[in-house]
This record gives sequence, C-alpha cells and structure tokens, in this order.
Amino acid sequence: MVHEVQGVVAGSKGAPVTLETVLVPDPGPGEALVRVEACGVCHTDLHYREGAINDEFPFLLGHEAAGTVEAVGAGVDNVAPGDFVILAWRAPCGTCRSCVRGRPWYCFSSRNAAQPMTLADGAPLSAALGIGAFAELTLVDAGQAVKVNPKAGAAVAGLLGCGIMAGLGAALNTGGVSRGDSVAVIGCGGVGDAAIAGARLGGAHTIIAVDIDDRKLEWARDFGATHTVNASRTEPVEAIRELTGGHGVNLAIDAVGTPKTYEQAFLARDLAGTVVLVGVPSPEMKIELPLLDVFGRGGSLKSSWYGDCLPSRDFPLYIDLYLQGRLPLDRFVSEEISIGDVEDAFHKMERGEVLRSVVVL
Ligand SMILES: NC(=O)c1ccc[n+]([C@@H]2O[C@H](COP(=O)([O-])OP(=O)(O)OC[C@H]3O[C@@H](n4cnc5c(N)ncnc54)[C@H](O)[C@@H]3O)[C@@H](O)[C@H]2O)c1
Ligand SMILES: [Zn+2]
Ligand SMILES: [Zn+2]
Repeated sequence: MVHEVQGVVAGSKGAPVTLETVLVPDPGPGEALVRVEACGVCHTDLHYREGAINDEFPFLLGHEAAGTVEAVGAGVDNVAPGDFVILAWRAPCGTCRSCVRGRPWYCFSSRNAAQPMTLADGAPLSAALGIGAFAELTLVDAGQAVKVNPKAGAAVAGLLGCGIMAGLGAALNTGGVSRGDSVAVIGCGGVGDAAIAGARLGGAHTIIAVDIDDRKLEWARDFGATHTVNASRTEPVEAIRELTGGHGVNLAIDAVGTPKTYEQAFLARDLAGTVVLVGVPSPEMKIELPLLDVFGRGGSLKSSWYGDCLPSRDFPLYIDLYLQGRLPLDRFVSEEISIGDVEDAFHKMERGEVLRSVVVL
C-alpha cells in the first residue's frame, strides 16, 4: 500500500519550499514507516534548498524528527509498531571499513530506506539526510529509528536527531571536553548553543560564546556560557585571548562554517588545543593558514559530522539527562509551527529570531 501525505519539498535551487503530495510506500525488508510527530527546522534544510549540499532536487526536507513507528518490514527487530523513536541520519552498516574497525560513529556507509518516496507523478524525492520528515509519514531504514523514553515529548526529542546532537557531540565526543577546560564556541544558533550545553555538561570551566547578534549571546548564557563576545563590535580572537590569560582556549568550536570563523577558531586556541569544525561550509569556500602555525601550535584540527555520535548509545542517554533536569533540551524549542510555515521559519532563522522552530504534526 502507498500512503498519500503532505510534505515540504524544495523543487529547485533557491526557490521557496512548497507543500506537495508525497507518496510513501509501506516498509520493505529492513525498513520502518514512522508517523512523524515533530520535526525541527535546521540550517542544513536551508543549505539543501539553496543547492549548497548537492543538486539532487527535488528534496523532501526535514531531518530533526521524532515520532511513532507505524509499521516495520520483514527482518526488523530493533523497533516495533507503537515505539517512540528519534530518527537518526547515521545508521551504522556494521560492515564498512570504519564499522569493522570498531568505529561505528564514523560509519562510511550509513543505511537508508531502499525504496524512494515520490511526488504524486512518481518523480523520486531525495530525502534530506536520508530522512525527509517534514511529512506526516516517512520511510527510513529501521536502524535509523532509535527508541527513547516517550516522556520527553516529540518537539524536544526530535531536536536530538540532528543539530542539538551535532553541537553536544562536537564538544563532548569530537572535542573531548573535560573538567577544567576552556572552550570558545563561535556561532550560537541551535548547534552552537548545544555545544555550549555540552561543554558545561563535560565540566568546562570557561565557556566563551561568540556571535554577531546580542540576542543570541543572551540565550547562550542560559545554556552555560560564562562570557560572551559580540564579533560585530569586538575582535573575537583578541577577546578570547584576554579572557584566557593571554593564551587562548583548549577547544575552539566553529559552529558557523565560514573561512573567517574557522580562522578565528584556529587562532583563538591555546598551544596543543583543538579546533572542531561543525558548521557546514559551502562548496566554493577555501581557507589559507600559515602552515608553520598549523605545525607550531600543535594540537589537532577536527571536523565533527553529527557530533561523532552513535545514535543508539547517545539519544537515549541525552533524553534521560534531559528528564533528570541536567540538560535543558526544551529551551531549544523557540516556537511550534505547522507544516505550512517552514519557508517562514527559514526567514526567522536568517533574521536570528529563533533557535529552533519545530513543526508539530
Ligand atoms: N556537522 C553537523 O553534523 C551539523 C549538523 C547540523 C547543523 N550543522 C551546521 O551547523 C551550522 C549552524 O547551524 P544552526 O542550525 O545552529 O544555524 P543558525 O543559523 O541557527 O545559527 C548560526 C549562528 O551563527 C551566527 N553567525 C553568523 N555569522 C557569524 C560570524 N561571522 N561570527 C559569529 N557568529 C556568526 C548567527 O548569528 C547564528 O546565531 C550550519 O552550518 C548547519 O548546517 C552541522
Ligand atoms: Zn559502517
Ligand atoms: Zn540538521
């Protein structure tokens, strides 16, 4: 049986998204059909719409989602109909060279549904990050559906499915924050603020939030920033050095993803420090750094895909920390919107008015 639902589609580069009829097949072997209850609007959806990820239009957007398993295909044993799940864009394959080396959080061949969802005329849709959850139903590989405590509520839980997990993991998994560290986070949207929350959870002593918008810096304090720097008024590298006894931070996280912010992160870290790039650059961007400094400063330059998370390990953990009152996931939800309001939510994101608009279905 094929299910007919409404979904948010980016039809061509730069064009406003539209609500279209989407056909979702019943789950085949290894697949799960999920009734989406909530899906956050992430900057990566906007990157897709702008053609900055790839040209495989039309896209079915939405990838920060939670919902209930509606049906599963043959051979699925990790979830069953009725389970409350967060959808992950990393479902380790178990057989690629990284999984085989015991590093499934880098899996190079993550699983997705084998069958495509399509437009009413049969044109296949590219599901954003293999999810496509701005729709009432979506089809995923069952490994993408991760069971968590349903007490969390869908609007909050879904955010762990992408940006918030990416930020938490950039600090805790990739950056390896530990007690007493100094951390700077450049860009305090949903991802950057999650990195700040992660730095606090990991025991960082000094957490410096950098943004160009005072409102964002105020919110960053709520998540644990001990200091804030408005980079549109103050040179951030100098400011970060001043706040750290002239040395720079142990960990500098770029949650914007531009050559300028990356260079700032590079220069704002202490000797033997770490830079983590979690913001997504666009294809034309290039960086130029003095190679002698890359060498001489030591430490490491890392990128963080999805916060190097292992969804089956990390989603239930962070949901439990939220339910224990130790991680304020609910503060990332700036507003709940309906499925027709995604284009509007992109503009609010661009104007810096929200951390996360969450579509509630
Ligand atoms: N690596 C991953 O796995 C992953 C996952 C999700 C999102 N992302 C990426 O992370 C980035 C941030 O996502 P988001 O949803 O938080 O976006 P957002 O638009 O909500 O936040 C970006 C923030 O950066 C600030 N900013 C812009 N230019 C700046 C500058 N020059 N200096 C300091 N701050 C500046 C903005 O004011 C805003 O607060 C995006 O590029 C997104 O695609 C990466
Ligand atoms: Zn793998
Ligand atoms: Zn995302």
